[in-house]
Amino acid sequence: MRECTSIIITVGLPVQDGRPQSYPLGECLRSVAAGLKRGDLVVVRSTLVPGYTRDFVLPILESSGLKAGRDFYLAYSSERIAEGRAFEEFEQMPGLVSGIDGESLRRAKELLGIVTKAPLIEASSFEAVELAKLLENISRDVNIAMVNEMAKVSKAMGLNIFEIIELANTHKRVNLLYPGPGVGGYCIPNALHYLAARAESLGVPLPLLEAARNVNEEMPAYVVSLVNRHLPVPPAAARIGVLGLAMKDYSSDTRCSPALKIVWLLERSGMRVKAFDPAVPERYPFSVDSLAEAVEGAHGLLVLARQEGIDYESWELFRNAMSRDGRPFIIDTKRVYGGRSFERDGILVDSI
Ligand SMILES: NC(=O)c1ccc[n+]([C@@H]2O[C@H](COP(=O)([O-])OP(=O)(O)OC[C@H]3O[C@@H](n4cnc5c(N)ncnc54)[C@H](O)[C@@H]3O)[C@@H](O)[C@H]2O)c1
Repeated sequence: MRECTSIIITVGLPVQDGRPQSYPLGECLRSVAAGLKRGDLVVVRSTLVPGYTRDFVLPILESSGLKAGRDFYLAYSSERIAEGRAFEEFEQMPGLVSGIDGESLRRAKELLGIVTKAPLIEASSFEAVELAKLLENISRDVNIAMVNEMAKVSKAMGLNIFEIIELANTHKRVNLLYPGPGVGGYCIPNALHYLAARAESLGVPLPLLEAARNVNEEMPAYVVSLVNRHLPVPPAAARIGVLGLAMKDYSSDTRCSPALKIVWLLERSGMRVKAFDPAVPERYPFSVDSLAEAVEGAHGLLVLARQEGIDYESWELFRNAMSRDGRPFIIDTKRVYGGRSFERDGILVDSI
C-alpha cells in the first residue's frame, strides 16, 4: 500500500450454509483502508452480493477519512475469466467496468486495458455490473440444470442426450450446454447464494433459479443411482474406480466438486472407492496414484472429469483388471465415449 497507487482486490465471499461470508473481504478492505493514500485507485473484481461495492466496500475504504471520488478513485469490474484459460481470457474477454464517478471509470479502464485487449464496456452503476456478473454465472447453472433434467428423460427413452443437444443446437437461437455429474467450483454454485442474499432482503422470491440449483445439486445422487442400477454385487462388497475428481474438465480445482460428493455418497452406502486424478494436487483417503490402481478389482468405473493424464481408452487394462464378479461397467458422465451406451470386451458402457 505504501508503494502502489493502483489496488486490485479479488478476495472472494466464501459461502457457508448458503450464506455469503464477508469477513475475508472486510479484513482485506480494512488493511487497504489503513494504507490508502490520496490519488489511489481501488478496483474491486471479486464477485459480490449486488449492492456490496456501494454498501460494504465504500464505507470501509472511507473509514480511512478519505472520500471516494474526491480523494481516491473507486471502480468495480467483474472478473470473467475461466480457470484453465485465465491468461488467454485476461486479454481476450471483454470486461464490464463501473466507477463511482467518471474519473474512477476512466482510470479503471486505463489500468485494466494494460492487459485486456478486448472491449472494456462502461456500465451505468456498480450494481449493474455486480448483477450482470451473477446473471452470467446463473445462466450457466440454469442451462445445465435444464439439460441435466433432459438427460434423465432422454435416458428413460433410450436416447443419447448429446445427440439431442447437438440437434437442438443447430437452431440459430439455441445454445445448450452439456449435462454432467453436477455443477461445481467456486463461481457458478455460489452465484445464486450471492443473489439470494440480496433478493431476500428485497422480498423477491427466486423459485426458478433455486429449482435449477437444486437440480444440479441432486445430480451426484442421480449418478449414484446409475451405479446402483448396474452393480453386480451388494454395495458393501462393491469397489468403484473414479476417473477424475476436479470440479470441471482439465481443472486442478476440487472446490465444491460434484465428484467429491459422489465419492462421499458411494462410501456412505458401503462401497470402496479409489479415485485417480493426476491434475489434482490434494490427497484424499480414497486417492490413488495411477489409473491401474483405480481400475484394479473395480466392479464399475465412473468418469467424472476429463483429464490429460487419464487414458480413457485403456481397454486392455479394463478387461484384465476389473472385477469379474458379474458384468463390469463404466458410467460416463463426460461424453468420453460419445454419449452412447454399448458393450465392449464384456464391459457395459453407460452414459449419463
Ligand atoms: N477463479 C476463477 O476462475 C474466477 C473467475 C471469475 C471470478 N472469480 C471471482 O474472483 C474472486 C477470487 O476467486 P479465487 O478463485 O481466486 O478465490 P480464492 O479464494 O482462491 O482467492 C482469494 C484470494 O484472496 C486471498 N485472501 C483471503 N483473505 C485475504 C485477506 N484478508 N487479505 C488479503 N488477501 C486475502 C487469498 O489468499 C486468495 O489468494 C471471487 O470473488 C471469485 O468469485 C474467480
